[in-house]
Amino acid sequence: MCLLLAVETSCDDTSVAALKNGKILATLTSGQKEHDRFGGIVPEVASRAHQKNLIPLLERLLKETKLNKKSFDAIAFTAGPGLLGSLLTGTVFSKSLAQALEIPLVAVDHLHGHLMSHFIEPPFPAFPYLCLLVSGGHTLIVRVDDPLSYTVMGRTVDDAAGEAFDKGAKIMGLAYPGGPLIDRFAASGNPNRFPFPEPKMQGLNMSFSGLKTSLLYLIRDNLKNDPDFIQNNLNDLCASYQEAINGFLIRKLRRAVRETGIREIGIAGGVAANINLRSKATEMVANEKGNLYIPAFEYCMDNAAMIAVTGWYQFKAGQFADHTVTPYAKSPLKNAPL
Ligand code: KG4
Ligand code: ZN
Repeated sequence: MCLLLAVETSCDDTSVAALKNGKILATLTSGQKEHDRFGGIVPEVASRAHQKNLIPLLERLLKETKLNKKSFDAIAFTAGPGLLGSLLTGTVFSKSLAQALEIPLVAVDHLHGHLMSHFIEPPFPAFPYLCLLVSGGHTLIVRVDDPLSYTVMGRTVDDAAGEAFDKGAKIMGLAYPGGPLIDRFAASGNPNRFPFPEPKMQGLNMSFSGLKTSLLYLIRDNLKNDPDFIQNNLNDLCASYQEAINGFLIRKLRRAVRETGIREIGIAGGVAANINLRSKATEMVANEKGNLYIPAFEYCMDNAAMIAVTGWYQFKAGQFADHTVTPYAKSPLKNAPL
């Protein structure tokens, strides 16, 4: 029997989860409304909110699962990448608790966690599978060979896909995070109304900053003739911009499928919640005669369940961290050879 506690604090969601023998018992996530009035995440505010949220969340988790904290066998926590202050709160919290309970610590990489979010709930992909990891901070195409080994095949050279959504939304005067808002407005818009040039990137690499600039110029030019251009065309603007981002992502993913011959395909990370991306991926994967895996909405966003599942595989492999472990802001994955 193994009972694992997982703690995720890499960005602006505080999340804890309990996992028993590989199965999630409960996941509790607390978003941070504190950032709303700033129009983006303020790192110092995020760290303080994590500090405030962590103990009440753990107490709620214990209550809901009827567990005693003394029954945990190990604590898995997100060691990076992310906001350093946020990561520090989770790291210090986990280290202290592990020390007090005299149980081992497992340091989990946040991106590895997103890759493993496919193993929170069945059906699980078979190895090897390809994962398009699209979050607010990262955009990668990864080949996952087993629960503990993976290779980055392509990545964005500038903005992440989620960042492209958020920055585009900001240009259109929408609130942060803009991804879900663009998703919503785009649903009743025309994706072909404003064509965007396809970013030119070699191989499986990606780029999104040009799309954001094209949107900026499109809006700037049209505002000269129509001061209400954004309001009058919001749905079409959102649909066209979303089409450019998602179309590009799916064409790159299709290229990876064809190059590797791997037909087990997953999408993970916050942008995997996007309805249009999900339907495009479904269509592409069906055409390629593959199987598509997308985690439930709550497991696409940052959550401790994915950290628990990854931590469980590391636990079984004896991959423990000692108490000198420190968090890291940038992933070693970012510099992985392509
Ligand atoms: O994985 P995640 O929760 O946090 C990071 O690790 O970054 O991803 C957050 C990102 C944000 O950029 C947000 O705008 C985007 O995911 N996002 C979406 C949607 N829901 C969240 N983007 C497009 N459509 C959505 N429905
Ligand atoms: Zn994430």
